[in-house]
Amino acid sequence: MDKVILEKRIVEVNNVVKTFGEVRAVDGLSFTVNSGEIFGLLGPNGAGKTTTVKLILGLLEADEGEISVFDMLPSTDEMAIKQKIGYVSEEPLIYKSMTPKELFDFTSSIRKLNPKETTAKLQRYLESLEAEQYYDKLIATLSRGNKQKMQIIASLLHEPKLLIMDEPLTGLDAKSAKIVKEILELHAENGGSVIFSTHILEVAEDVCDRICIINKGKAIATGTMKELSKLADKAGADLEEIFLKLTQQDESVNLIISNLRELTGNGGNR
Ligand SMILES: Nc1ncnc2c1ncn2[C@@H]1O[C@H](COP(=O)(O)OP(=O)(O)OP(=O)(O)O)[C@@H](O)[C@H]1O
Ligand SMILES: [Mg+2]
Repeated sequence: MDKVILEKRIVEVNNVVKTFGEVRAVDGLSFTVNSGEIFGLLGPNGAGKTTTVKLILGLLEADEGEISVFDMLPSTDEMAIKQKIGYVSEEPLIYKSMTPKELFDFTSSIRKLNPKETTAKLQRYLESLEAEQYYDKLIATLSRGNKQKMQIIASLLHEPKLLIMDEPLTGLDAKSAKIVKEILELHAENGGSVIFSTHILEVAEDVCDRICIINKGKAIATGTMKELSKLADKAGADLEEIFLKLTQQDESVNLIISNLRELTGNGGNR
């Protein structure tokens, strides 16, 4: 069933610049995220995805431009905005000396969640992701994928309207990744929004309703997969070629491949 995308603007990023010394990590970036959509930030390593996410969360302050989240400003309304956001960072869980149970108890108490409802939700999510047996183990002893599952569950407990997920599928096996995608789709079908950052084209294609391709802090193309594919068709290339071309990686990929072939003695043979 096609979902109805309501056009309420949840996040607006307008001409935002963020520099770190000489590096323009975000360089005049603009996009809008509506309610009911999974919005992808797709770009190569170092493109500025995590910096953009941190600006939206109010963890970093923009040098130029404006950001609004639920019509509030991350720089002044950080706490109010955070109550409506569930965030999965690109780093694996940092609370290594805690168990997931303690992490969820802590999250529930600072968010003042109803214990009974939260326990029921937790049980459902832990079962869905086959992670019940790790509930009481030290986070430090969990595998990367299981740490990631706990981080994802913690971000969902307060039923935030906006989920911001920075490379959330990293480390997850195929089955768990499928379940997480399903959770995100249900969230959007119910009118919630997701900002989903990834460097993997196939993942963005699979998960996102609209995608903003960013490179060197700039938006290069924004649209649905269909719109981006049209762009690719026009250029007579497939989407992967277009992505590499738009992000200026195509020539360097060819050069690296030919260097590797030379190194392994395959130069000019194929
Ligand atoms: N705290 C920082 N200090 C200095 N430079 C930074 C800092 N954070 C990010 N950068 C630089 O900003 C640019 C964008 O980094 P960012 O982490 O936003 O990229 P990304 O798209 O998330 O990459 P990845 O796919 O590797 O996660 C990079 O050049 C990075 O080195
Ligand atoms: Mg990143």
